[in-house]
Amino acid sequence: MKTKTPTIEAPAKTKQGPGRSAASEAAAEPEIVSSLAEVRPKLSSNGHGKAKRIAVIPGDGIGKEVIPEAVKVLKAAAEAGSREVKLTDFDWGADRYLRDGVTLPADAVEMFHRDFDAILLGAMGDPRVATNVHAADILLGLRSKLDLYVNARPCVLFDKKFTPLKDRTEKDVQFMVFRENTEGLYVGMGGNFKKGTEDEVAIQEDLNTRKGVERIIRYAFEYAEERGLKRVCMSDKSNALTFGHDLWQRVFKLVRAEYPEIEASHQYIDNLLMQMVRDPSQFQVIVTSNLFGDIASDLGAQLAGGLGLAPSGNIHPGQVSLFEPVHGSAPNIAGKGIANPMGSILTVGMMFEYLGWKAEAEAIDKAVRGALAAGKTPAELGGTLGTREVGDWVANTVAKS
Ligand code: NAD
Ligand code: IPM
Ligand code: MN
Repeated sequence: MKTKTPTIEAPAKTKQGPGRSAASEAAAEPEIVSSLAEVRPKLSSNGHGKAKRIAVIPGDGIGKEVIPEAVKVLKAAAEAGSREVKLTDFDWGADRYLRDGVTLPADAVEMFHRDFDAILLGAMGDPRVATNVHAADILLGLRSKLDLYVNARPCVLFDKKFTPLKDRTEKDVQFMVFRENTEGLYVGMGGNFKKGTEDEVAIQEDLNTRKGVERIIRYAFEYAEERGLKRVCMSDKSNALTFGHDLWQRVFKLVRAEYPEIEASHQYIDNLLMQMVRDPSQFQVIVTSNLFGDIASDLGAQLAGGLGLAPSGNIHPGQVSLFEPVHGSAPNIAGKGIANPMGSILTVGMMFEYLGWKAEAEAIDKAVRGALAAGKTPAELGGTLGTREVGDWVANTVAKS
């Protein structure tokens, strides 16, 4: 299979080199020389004419219920904005795997690079596939093979009545979690020795590369700078993980020195999760490793009202990128028609923003806010509407926008 070399876009402006002051502050530590060109977080498509080509992978469980609603809204928003979309469905997931053993087809990565602008995915995970091999191949496989190094997971409270935090309002929960999405404990390096015996050894490697850490930290600062945000908090566990997360510390010092106007802070992950509950208003941008970002984003989702409300983007700037709700396949409610489709619907909004369709993204956002305000909500948010009814309401509202 042909693999594409990940490209880093050329610097759009010159910045003073690799943070001299930070380097001298850490004089005793091994020096890191900045080698990456500036990574631009500008949301933009890989541009192939007017119609945007979108792959749709509903996947498993409630993915098959919420994605049709998201697609309904996608079509309504595109039509309202006179935008052209070309949708292609893919049946990858547990059913397909159990039927013919296919997880991620061999030519998928090349096909996405060549034929698509974006991918919309529901969820992967099924109790019948105990190994979770299809999720590893499809979801983690695409994140890794498409080099989608930014996992952007916004945590934004739309209406204060939905947060479980006492006396907190919309202004208190408005932050972005940037999760490194291609490295860390997710690379699948490791193995078992004497598996199944009393002497079993299991090793799972935590891979952190200089380039991988730098590009996600830099993306977080660039994002903050572009939006006029003032605070970036990096979270790691460098007090215990003295090799891998020491690298995070050193790279963070170098990169933060290039953004003197942004208040850069650090919190260990255990403290970060506590602080997110104690006072979420202190955060604007959080940047962290793959596993820690996975955990922090579920917590952040609930602070903003519920897992079913949370959207996300798996992004490589300028290249085909994958958008999905933060939640999983929720086998406990699958098939009941009660799953909240709003996370998937807001995910379409993130995708549209990425594709450069800002007005349409805003219309989707506004319609979801409208549904929340009007009490047009599913069980997760205390309402009585089913998945389809929520989707219909939002799609109708978007169509009138
Ligand atoms: P989950 O996110 O599927 O569910 C956690 C809890 O949140 C459940 O109680 C569920 O009912 C509820 N929930 C989730 N989404 C909801 C929605 N849209 N509306 C209402 N309630 C919702 O996490 P889990 O139970 O830990 O995992 C179930 C399966 O999903 C596993 O196989 C797991 O590996 C997989 N998973 C996949 C993804 C993904 O594809 N991105 C993400 C998380 C989990
Ligand atoms: C997520 C999920 C995945 C992850 C699982 C399904 C492997 O929890 O997207 O948040 O850990 O990244
Ligand atoms: Mn998760």
